[in-house]
Formats: sequence, C-alpha cells, structure tokens
Amino acid sequence: MSELGRLEDLPADYVAELRTHNLVPLWPNLRAVLPPGKPRLSTRATHWPYEVLRPLLMKAGELTPIEKAERRVLVLANPGHGLEKMQASAAMYLGMQLLLPGEWAPSHRHTPNAVRMVVEGEGAWSTVDGEKCPMQRGDLILTPTGLWHEHGHDGTEPVVWLDVLDLPLVYYMEASYHVDGGRQAVKPGHGERRYAHGGLLPTTVFQHSSRAYPMLRYPWADARAALVSLAADQPDLDAVQLTYSNPETGGHAENILGFYALMLRPGQTLTLPVRSPAMVFHLIEGAARVRIEDQSFALAEADTCCAPGYSSATLSNPSPGAPAFLFIADETPLHQKLGVFENRG
Ligand SMILES: [Fe+2]
Repeated sequence: MSELGRLEDLPADYVAELRTHNLVPLWPNLRAVLPPGKPRLSTRATHWPYEVLRPLLMKAGELTPIEKAERRVLVLANPGHGLEKMQASAAMYLGMQLLLPGEWAPSHRHTPNAVRMVVEGEGAWSTVDGEKCPMQRGDLILTPTGLWHEHGHDGTEPVVWLDVLDLPLVYYMEASYHVDGGRQAVKPGHGERRYAHGGLLPTTVFQHSSRAYPMLRYPWADARAALVSLAADQPDLDAVQLTYSNPETGGHAENILGFYALMLRPGQTLTLPVRSPAMVFHLIEGAARVRIEDQSFALAEADTCCAPGYSSATLSNPSPGAPAFLFIADETPLHQKLGVFENRG
C-alpha cells in the first residue's frame, strides 16, 4: 500500500484557502477513515464490577433526590470513546439506574430505543405504553422508540436496573429528543401473558396484534426455564442461547440493538465467532470468565463488560456444579439492516 500525501506536503496558503471555502483534501485522511482490513476501533474491552458500582450508585441516592435527577443513573462509559461521550460502544449506551422506595421517575418518551435488565430489588414497576410491567431480577422490559414510559417503586428496598439504549447512534444521527408527559392510565392485561407460549400467537377473530411492539416484558423466570429446557433437550449443543424476539415478526425485539440470554453449562468454555458488532455481557446468575482478545475479566453476579466488534471473545463458567446465566446486548440488527454485518468465524 503506497504512502499517501500528507497535509504538510501542501502549501500552507493553499490549505488555508481551501478552509475558507469549507473544503478539505481527502488524501491526508483517507487511511484514517478507511483503514486496511479492519476498522479502527475506539471501543475498548471494559469491565464494570457491580461491587464497585453499587456503593457509588447508593451514594447518588443520598446526594441527588429523584426530582433533581429525573433518572438517577451512573453511566457505564467506555474510556476508549472518552467518558464525556457516555457510550459503551459506537451504538450502545449503558446506565445503572437506582430507584428508591416511594420514588417515581416521571413519564416521558424519546426517539432512542431502550431496554431495562433488572439487577436487584423487589416492588418496582415500569409502565410502558399503558402496560404496567413488574420489575423482578433478570426481567427484560422494552421501552422502544416513541412509547411513553415511567418507573415507580412500591417496595421497601432500593431497586437497580441496567439500561441499554441505542442513544449514541440516534444522537449521532441528530435524531435524539424527548417529550415529557403526565402519569399514564394503566390498561388491563399483560403482553407477556398473552405471549406466554412460543409459537402460539393470540389472534382474536383471526386478527394479529397491530402493535409494533406487542411484547414489552420478558420475565426472567420464563427465559431461564427456556434455557434450562433447551440445554436438557440438546445435551451436545455448544451455545445454549436464546434471542429476545418480537413474537409477531420473529425478528429482534427492537430495531437497532439485539438482546439474548445465554446459559453456560458447569465448567463450559464457549468461543464466540469474530463478528462486526460490539457486545455487552451482563452476568445474571453464577460466575463467568470473559476473555476479549488478550484481556480477561472475572464476572461476578451483576457485573457488566463490553467487547468491541471484530474481536474474539471466549466465555467460560469456572463452576463445576452450577450453570451460569448471561444477558447479552449487541449491535447485530443495526449492522444487518445497514448491510455491514460480518461474521469472520
Ligand atoms: Fe426514558
């Protein structure tokens, strides 16, 4: 590959004149924006231990009342992007959110898509599009683009959840904004009960749901049971993995980010293929070791880490007697829709 001309090779008055007309020569920057073979990755493999994060989040609960925060969140920021960018990867934002007993995070809606993965505590709920979703550990609750959502807490202990949003992407697109609203009227019935049995869709008088997001809560009890039953049914299966999907379309639950539940059998090591999207791993139950390229993280329960795209990741369960359960988020739907998805094996 031949060496390209540098900016310094050009006469300074020529460069200055270009700039006055809002013009820039491409060739000094061509290799930076189109590097050979593999993108230049800002996302760094990063581990956020819950043991470190939790006391700092509880401190935020003392320092900042909910009225002054609206959403009391510590952002899991990737140092590779710069902390002020508040992003875990190019397209993913991660935040650990605290709601104390009696608090209410007021209703709003926004263009970025979000999900909540409940980390600890009992008695909180999210009302999404009029559907009141109880929040229990390991539950996945969707708040897709444009849907009203608010959070309340009738329990006695702090509740913490992990927010995963496509905010960095939507912000980069200059399409990120929010609208405030009043308390939502709660509609009867729960989507997760309507879609409780895979392969069977509620079709009243032959009509499918007209909602773009028919299922908003994916209870952990169901996801865990499905993983255990898949593992028992397929004893030789390497990756005991489920995708959180839209039951009406069979596609991903949301448009931009993908969400998955994975079970590692006792003592199992699983090497994931090298793919273009960045990934986030959050340990729901058990213990896990995550090796990303040449870095290795020991994940305890409620720990979170991220891996850049185009990198190798190996997951292992050090326990000889108990399975490990992970929640994974990634950028697969985005890469697939844009036609840049790659699986390099
Ligand atoms: Fe929100």
